[in-house]
Amino acid sequence: MAEQKVTHDDLAAFAQRAVNLPKAVADSRRQQVNTLRDKLTSHIAENPGFSLVKMLHAGSVAKGTALRTVNDFDVAVYVRNDEAPEQEGQLLEWIAERLRAAYGALIDPSQIEVSTHCVNIHFKSSGIDIDVVPVLYEGDPGDRGYLIAKSSGDRLLTSVRLHLDFVADRKRTCPQDWVQVVRFVKWWVGEQKQRDGQFRFKSFMAELLCAHLLDTGAVTFTDYPAALEGFFDYIVRTDLAERIAFADYYRATELPSVRTDAIEIFDPVNPANNAARLYDEIDRKRIVDAAEESLDAITEARYATTKAQAVACWQVVLGSRFRGQA
Ligand SMILES: Nc1ncnc2c1ncn2[C@@H]1O[C@H](COP(=O)(O)OP(=O)(O)OP(=O)(O)O)[C@@H](O)[C@H]1O
Ligand SMILES: [Mg+2]
Repeated sequence: MAEQKVTHDDLAAFAQRAVNLPKAVADSRRQQVNTLRDKLTSHIAENPGFSLVKMLHAGSVAKGTALRTVNDFDVAVYVRNDEAPEQEGQLLEWIAERLRAAYGALIDPSQIEVSTHCVNIHFKSSGIDIDVVPVLYEGDPGDRGYLIAKSSGDRLLTSVRLHLDFVADRKRTCPQDWVQVVRFVKWWVGEQKQRDGQFRFKSFMAELLCAHLLDTGAVTFTDYPAALEGFFDYIVRTDLAERIAFADYYRATELPSVRTDAIEIFDPVNPANNAARLYDEIDRKRIVDAAEESLDAITEARYATTKAQAVACWQVVLGSRFRGQA
């Protein structure tokens, strides 16, 4: 076969230029969240009986899967379940009050506000928003608790700590490349959303799907064009109708015995929590169609006779900002 016109190096350069959050920015964001966490830890130590237990940095910036376009930083705040108000609105206001008390001199109280299903801390100088997501906690050593989902307000029994471990395991198995492919997939999702306002593919699902492809050896992550081709090929081949689950923290026999939803990508921590529960047949079809279009474009790129033609094909996948290296 003729030499590829768009190569691994082209995609790697694009990642550095456009896709990835620069390391210095990620480090400074993590530092900012660490400062908040440490301040809360010392407030808890000084105030026995304080109802907030601890804080964990839980989103993509913590996992290393953030894109340059990231604008929310997720932290989970663990609250004592028996002390927390039952009703969501009251719970969030109650948490906001306690955060204002804990951060007294550090953050102006007006910067801490109740938002949809979470409490938001806004930093005026940097424009950064930190979403504080409650976890109702009863002391589980694996940090399991009821997470109030930011997107839906659902109470999900899970552990963001074990999710971080789950991601760290895959990063150890395939350093740099697995997480880079996750970022490309999230970038692709962003492109699809721009083309079709109804397209949905949650980051957590994308991450779990990439973990499945790594665990099963279905995709070569060290070659980015091949990895993306393998990702789309999986979706097209299975119609995204195959159940995806993991044996890290429970046995396969604990999963539901019958199919429950249009897409099944189970939380690695809780076999009763399908992370794709809110996706219907139409959502599934949209994802399969988009994957098919991208797979066709990658196939076509392989037969391109000029670099410009191959780049145009890859722009179907990665958008018009993709240019290929000079
Ligand atoms: N349905 C869910 N079930 C269990 N945990 C979830 C679910 N959705 C999100 N989470 C938890 O929240 C974390 C953040 O997930 P989310 O999908 O919001 O994206 P993210 O990784 O922060 O990506 P980004 O914000 O860059 O899109 C996940 O790592 C997981 O711990
Ligand atoms: Mg996030």
